[in-house]
Amino acid sequence: MSYVVINAITVPGDAGAELEKRFAARAGEVDQQPGFEGFELLRPADGRDVYYVMTHWDAKESFEAWMSSRAFGQGHAQSNASGPVGSGSEVLQFEVVDLG
Ligand code: HEM
Repeated sequence: MSYVVINAITVPGDAGAELEKRFAARAGEVDQQPGFEGFELLRPADGRDVYYVMTHWDAKESFEAWMSSRAFGQGHAQSNASGPVGSGSEVLQFEVVDLG
C-alpha cells in the first residue's frame, strides 16, 4: 500500500443510515480496478457529521485511472440516479510513509 485517498462526506441529520444503505448495495466495480487494495466506510463516532470513505491504492496513478473510468460512474450509480446523500464532500490524498 502506498497511496490513500479519503472522500470526506458531510452527512447532516439522520441521513447517515441512507448513506450506509447505499454502500451496502454498492456496485463493487472498484474491487476489480487495477491497483485497488481495499476501502473502509468510517462512521463518525465523536459527534461530528463527516463520514470518511478511506481507499487504499498501490499508487496515485491507479486512483486517477479509476476516477476517470466507467467503473467510477457505475460505482456511484445510486448517487447519480437519486442525488447525493451528503451536503458536501472533500477529497484528501496521502502518500503512505510508514505502516504500524
Ligand atoms: C463527489 C462526491 C462523492 C460522493 C457524494 C460519494 C458518495 C458515494 C456513495 C453514496 C456511494 C454508494 C454507492 C452508490 O452511490 O451507488 C459511493 C461509492 C463509493 N465511493 Fe464515493 N462519492 C463521491 C466521490 C468519491 C471519491 C472521490 C472517492 C475516492 C476516495 C469515492 C470512493 C468510493 C468507493 C470506493 C465506493 C464504492 C464503489 C464500488 O462499489 O464500486 N467516492 N460513494
